[in-house]
Amino acid sequence: MDLGIAGRKAIVCASSRGLGKGCATALAQAGCEVVINGRNEAALKATADEIAKATKAKVISVAADVGTPEGQAKLFAACPSPDILINNNAGPPFRDFRELSRQQMIDGVVANMIVAIELIQKVIDPMASRGFGRIVNITSSSVKAPIPGLDLSSGARAGLTAFLAGVARTVADRGVTINNILPGPFDTDRLRSGFKNTSEKTGTPIDKVIEARKAGVPAKRFGTPEEFGAACAFLCSTQAGYITGQNLLLDGGMIPTAF
Ligand SMILES: NC(=O)c1ccc[n+]([C@@H]2O[C@H](COP(=O)([O-])OP(=O)(O)OC[C@H]3O[C@@H](n4cnc5c(N)ncnc54)[C@H](OP(=O)(O)O)[C@@H]3O)[C@@H](O)[C@H]2O)c1
Repeated sequence: MDLGIAGRKAIVCASSRGLGKGCATALAQAGCEVVINGRNEAALKATADEIAKATKAKVISVAADVGTPEGQAKLFAACPSPDILINNNAGPPFRDFRELSRQQMIDGVVANMIVAIELIQKVIDPMASRGFGRIVNITSSSVKAPIPGLDLSSGARAGLTAFLAGVARTVADRGVTINNILPGPFDTDRLRSGFKNTSEKTGTPIDKVIEARKAGVPAKRFGTPEEFGAACAFLCSTQAGYITGQNLLLDGGMIPTAF
């Protein structure tokens, strides 16, 4: 399907690896000019080269911490007028909520709620005045179904979801959509580091930890960053212009709800 976004400019935050990389690759395949981002310069450059080679798209690397004002300024210096913004950031570590300090809670809310809102504040009016904009936020299935130890992540992302539910309706008449994608288990470094932690904590061999986790997914496998990116690119397409304020759960059927 031609997504109708060739030539559009996209900023994909936190995209040198994992789900962000999946989104950047799919947007580049659709013909977008893509800004990719991460803190590790070497990894970022390798990803930029890989995407550019595979897609022939223009890929600009911005090595920066998306959570800082300086990092955000670098992103907008590389792409002053994005048509597409994909919000992504690292998630907080697994922790019993009793152990969270005030500062850790504030940091989690900043990383997984406030940073996305700050970036949206900067892009939304120019998008609306140009009559086209696509904003996709990578949140988590834990917004719908809690995961023990990820309460801070769930809370901050649920806050983002509720905050933007109102904002999305204010720009829907000017061609700008805001949607969230909620990943269940996807095969990325973050998921694998969680398995390593569980294995070390419980003394269970890592392949058994992985097997047990897959068994809990009706699809009996983890999602791939490519599948995630394809869904994201569709939400950024011209065809998806009537989809806004929605939460798309990609979890291989893991959360057993009818709605
Ligand atoms: N994978 C899953 O199963 C899953 C499920 C539910 C929710 N999620 C959420 O989805 C998001 C992406 O997860 P993932 O699995 O793709 O993670 P990942 O494989 O660990 O990749 C994270 C990416 O973000 C970049 N990054 C991290 N902190 C950054 C910062 N401050 N500024 C700029 N870039 C930064 C990393 O590069 P550098 O380290 O070089 O900065 C890397 O490119 C996370 O919020 C995660 O909690 C993932």
